[in-house]
Amino acid sequence: MTDKELIEAALDARQMAYTPYSGFAVGAALLAKDGRVYTGCNIENAGFTPSNCAERTAIFKAVSEGNKDFAKIAIVGGKAGSEPDSMTPPCGVCRQVMREFCDPDSFEIIAAISVDDYVTYTLEQLLPEGFGPSNLGK
Ligand code: THU
Repeated sequence: MTDKELIEAALDARQMAYTPYSGFAVGAALLAKDGRVYTGCNIENAGFTPSNCAERTAIFKAVSEGNKDFAKIAIVGGKAGSEPDSMTPPCGVCRQVMREFCDPDSFEIIAAISVDDYVTYTLEQLLPEGFGPSNLGK
């Protein structure tokens, strides 16, 4: 699975975004170390707080199916109905969820506009000095 293929999967997942309130559609594709890919979209709610980001949808799908070892995630976002025109970095809550399951130094976060235009960060770059399982002795 190349980075471009992972971005393609995120773009496909973005088509499923449910965004009646923000009109901002996000797609994510999470690559597990075993090669499996889990996709997600953002799913909003009239109560606002129950809304879920694309990244967490993908991660929770994977964990709920027994997979917790992840290599990288690709993220694309933008106005629903239009092609993305800027990068969508993960929100703070999603960074914290990544911190639970992913190695900060090796897990890669790909913020993409298209398959040809993207930036790759490590989780440590986006969540430096994060609080994780080891802080609780796990
Ligand atoms: N959103 C995501 O799904 N992922 C991000 O990384 C940033 C924000 C969603 C949440 C909400 O449904 C919409 O984008 C606007 O914030």
